[in-house]
Amino acid sequence: MDYVIFSIIAYFLGSIPFSLVIGKTFYQTDIREHGSGNLGGTNTFRVLGWKAGLAVTILDILKGTAAVVLVYLFAAQLEPLIVGAFAVIGHSFPLFAKFKGGKAVATSGGVLLGVSPLLFAIIFVSFFVFLKLSKYVSLSSMLTGVVAVIVALFMKHIGLIIVTMLLTIFVIYRHTDNIKRIKNKTEPKITWL
Ligand code: G3P
Repeated sequence: MDYVIFSIIAYFLGSIPFSLVIGKTFYQTDIREHGSGNLGGTNTFRVLGWKAGLAVTILDILKGTAAVVLVYLFAAQLEPLIVGAFAVIGHSFPLFAKFKGGKAVATSGGVLLGVSPLLFAIIFVSFFVFLKLSKYVSLSSMLTGVVAVIVALFMKHIGLIIVTMLLTIFVIYRHTDNIKRIKNKTEPKITWL
């Protein structure tokens, strides 16, 4: 029963579409109608600039972390990775945005931050190394997912291995359009790194 309650809370948390809320509230812009149309930090950077992009990215990360922290605080008998996964599902299929949400990168990162700050620190650095080399946020996100799985394997934490694998498969699946654009050479590159 506790799993049901905490998973529903995590799903609702993940469902908060910060990119939509911040875009509409402070910029009178629906970011779904601009850029890639994705409800995520990257598209917020692209459409609304770095302040909004950074705010959305941090808040999207914290949705995942908050779900894990809630488990630590109030339901230590539960596996935080399972509950955290529901925050990722909420982020990608948000109740508050017609079930069309983001690509699961930041919120997955937030779940991993809550469970293993060391793993998060490694993938955080990896992401920027990939970004510096490729200039593609999408490709860097997918490769960072692969790094997360490798690090989890080294940590020999079976739950972390399974969940990082599932999250990475999901992240790659959510980037299907980006993969096509990378192949066509139409995927936008960042210019600031
Ligand atoms: O986190 C999402 C990112 O990897 C790609 O976003 O807007 O370029 O499709 P976008």
